Amino acid sequence: QTKIVRITDVEKDKDILEEAGRIIRDGGIVVFPTETVYGIGANGLNADCCRSIYAAKGRPSDNPLILTVPDQEAAHEVAAYVSPTAQKLLDAFWPGPLTIIFPRKSCVPDAATGGLDTVALRCPDHDIAHAFLKAAGVPVAAPSANRSGRPSPTTAEEVAHDMDGRVDMIIDGGPCHIGVESTIVECHDDDTVTILRPGGVTLPMLEEVVGKGKVDVDRHIITGKGVPKAPGMKYRHYAPSAPVTVYVGSVEHVRKAMEQQALELTAQGKKVGFLVSRQTAEAFPKDAMYIWGDHDDKAALAAQLYTGLLFFDSVHVDHILAEGTDEEGLGMAIMNRMKKSAGGDVRSV
Ligand code: TXA
Ligand code: MG
Repeated sequence: QTKIVRITDVEKDKDILEEAGRIIRDGGIVVFPTETVYGIGANGLNADCCRSIYAAKGRPSDNPLILTVPDQEAAHEVAAYVSPTAQKLLDAFWPGPLTIIFPRKSCVPDAATGGLDTVALRCPDHDIAHAFLKAAGVPVAAPSANRSGRPSPTTAEEVAHDMDGRVDMIIDGGPCHIGVESTIVECHDDDTVTILRPGGVTLPMLEEVVGKGKVDVDRHIITGKGVPKAPGMKYRHYAPSAPVTVYVGSVEHVRKAMEQQALELTAQGKKVGFLVSRQTAEAFPKDAMYIWGDHDDKAALAAQLYTGLLFFDSVHVDHILAEGTDEEGLGMAIMNRMKKSAGGDVRSV
């Protein structure tokens, strides 16, 4: 039985947050909102609790979990060493959508790290998440609250669709405002930083803190080839039921290419869905369309991306044609997720 609770005010709803914290300490699972996506949380220092998350998500157990903490002090309790560069990043971006890989202390179980000797830590910038983590009093292992392979949930309704009956409590805190997951970075001894997964904290934001030329991006993210350093990045991911084709280019070219492809698919008797900006929308049928916002508004695209992809499951389309974006700023995270949801079917037009 899953208890679904709506929280609007962390002060007024203190009792519920206390109860949620108790569930974690008693070995249960609580789904909670963050600024990026909803997380499915359990006691990150208990191996059985970590395993229960893998079971609920149907997730391969070599894919390590992120431990979520309410503040820097809690991070120091599980990280064996915090380098000066890592400390700079903590000071600049916590709380916020930045996950940092640290050497782990022995209190962190293998079940949380997939056997790695490092641990991923993140401190969400969200008042409900903060109050919940404080109430739990232990680091909460919290991957995104989707069944493995599906788009991550950014609303409690989407969580319930995947997780009702599989977790003890779902805290509904409304939509997540960033909408794509945190940036994951690794810090090196020579003070350089590698982005393992692009996310809410962008490359230019990182460069501003650690210096230009000191941040690189895991080659896997750029080329789609080789073995990614974040194990979770190797799986097909963020995928709605129907296949996805992504188009990038000028509004005009993208619209033309999508129209052409839609004609062909329709001729084959297929129902086509369109994930488009307001500028592109006019050309397409409204019943299977999700408009994410203005063409140049990457924050809106990020915030709407997963809800958009999941919308097409509800209207049962056979193929989704999606308008992408360039890879500047937040565009790197957006296109990383779109490429994965499209299984690589991205067309520059
Ligand atoms: O925004 C977020 O980070 C969300 C919210 C819920 O906090 N969480 C999230 O977790 O996206 P998840 O489990 O869906 O993604 C965790 C990623 C995986 O790709 C995993 O491989 C990587 O983090 N990861 C975890 N520990 C790692 C480690 N020690 N070294 C390298 N990658 C690691
Ligand atoms: Mg995930």
